[in-house]
Formats: sequence, C-alpha cells, structure tokens
Amino acid sequence: MKIKGVIVAAGYGTRLLPATKTLPKEMLPLVDTPSIDFIIKEFIESGIKDILIITHRKKKALEDYFDRDPELEKVFIENGKIKELEKIKPYDANIVFTRQKVMNGTGNALLEAESWLSEGPFVMAYPDDIVFSEKPLALQMIEAYQKHQKSILAVMSFPGDVSRYGVIDPFKKLDEKTYQIKGIVEKPKPGKEPSRMISIGRYLFEPSIFEKLKTRLVNHEKGEFYVTEGIEELALEEKVAAYEFTGKRIDTGQAEAFFEAVLEYSLMRPDLKKVLCNFIKERNLYDC
Ligand code: G1P
Repeated sequence: MKIKGVIVAAGYGTRLLPATKTLPKEMLPLVDTPSIDFIIKEFIESGIKDILIITHRKKKALEDYFDRDPELEKVFIENGKIKELEKIKPYDANIVFTRQKVMNGTGNALLEAESWLSEGPFVMAYPDDIVFSEKPLALQMIEAYQKHQKSILAVMSFPGDVSRYGVIDPFKKLDEKTYQIKGIVEKPKPGKEPSRMISIGRYLFEPSIFEKLKTRLVNHEKGEFYVTEGIEELALEEKVAAYEFTGKRIDTGQAEAFFEAVLEYSLMRPDLKKVLCNFIKERNLYDC
C-alpha cells in the first residue's frame, strides 16, 4: 500500500518568538539538526517517500533546507570531506511544498492539500512533536491502520495540563494499545476533559477526512478551524481509533519544552551526553 505523508508547517510559531520572527520554528535545531528533519526521517524509515510540506511565504528556509547544495557538495568532494558530504546529502524521497494561502487553522491547511492527498491513506504530522522509538511512529500507525481499517490518532496518557491539546473520549478497547473513540475535545477547559489521553501531532487519515472537514467548515463561525472538527465527524461514524504509541515524545513547540527537547536529545547522543554530564559535574548542579 502506498501511503503519502504531509507535514503541516505553516504556523507562525509565536510560542517561540523572537527567533521565529525570521526563522521557521521547524528549522530550530536540536543542537545541529532542524526539528523537521526528525519527522522526515521518521516518514522515510516508515516507507513514506512522497512527502508534502505545507508552509507559508515566510518559511523559505524550509524549501532551501531540503534542496541540494551543489556548491558545498563540490567543495566537500574536492577536499575529500566524506563525512560532511554525507551530512548534506539530499533524502531519497520526493519532498514537495505548497503554501497555505489563508492562515486560519490546520483544517484549512489540510483542505488546501486535498488534490495531492486524494488517492489513498496518508500520515499527517505537526512538526512540534518528535517521537524517538525503535519502530518509527508512522510505521506503528500504518500497522494499526492495516489491522483496524480506521483512521488512527497517536495518543498518550498525559499527567500534566491537557488543556493545550486535543483530548480523546475513548469508549471501546480494540486491542492492547488501541481504542475506538467516541469523540475528541480540542483544548478542553480544565475539568471538562473527557480523559487524560492527549492526541499528539500524528494522524493517519483516509481521503474521507476532506468531506468531513468541508461539512464542518460550512458552519464554522469564527476562530481557527482545526482538523479536530473533521475527526469529530469521523468519530460519530465509529471510524477513528486512538493508538497508544511506543516511544519517547518530545515537544518542540514552546520555549521550555524546546529546551527540554534539546537536553533529552543530548542524552541520546554519546558525544553530547558527555558534554552535558561534564557541565553538571563541573558546576555541581545536583541540587539546583
Ligand atoms: C494541535 C492539535 C491538537 C493536538 C496538538 C498536539 O494543536 O489541534 O489536537 O493535541 O496539536 O501537539 P496545536 O499545537 O496546533 O495548538
């Protein structure tokens, strides 16, 4: 089965200002690797090679990043810098771009990509969420889809404040890691959350999501139009399953979380872990 990927990367990134005044938040690096790079790798390792990135006009750096850099390649080849050459090698994938024309929510962004995504199931990612796992997250979701034949939301139980997220209303256990859901509430007021299970930024949809989004868009009055509205419609027809993924999720969407993401990533790389451990030891930070 051929599954495409789409990354909704058009947001202004206001939670990471002032850096995002000129730099797309997806280009902010975990040390030396832009955060969006991890999602592209997750897709490719999951067998997804046709990838659409939805951006907007202030995010040209994203297009440049995934393009070739022939000048630099030439310099590295001439100087035998094989390691450096490897680092800028373009991905073996078809990565294309479109720009969201009207900035009014993820629902509109996805609708603008309908013609590209109308042939079959696709995985949608929001770039704020990076998941490190042995089996890449998108592949876990593709397998869950093959098993249950429903749209799949990646979910996790969340001990903290869930009011920033889409919170699912689970009602039937389908297997050890999967629930059919009754609904989903976007950013519930404290005390109004249907569960403690949040939906993170990974979804597997069939093209039927577009009809559902259009149905809801007609009656949408004001404010951002979220993809969540389409999910609510699918859930009414029992066509959505929430899948508790395996892996470590890190959130790069806001300053404190981003800093934590950098630290978390440092622990996964021996070269960086050494620096972090020395830093803690030298400054005696154990009880700060
Ligand atoms: C979006 C979704 C929300 C989800 C979240 C995960 O919210 O609308 O349902 O829980 O991503 O990161 P946003 O971060 O765009 O406010």
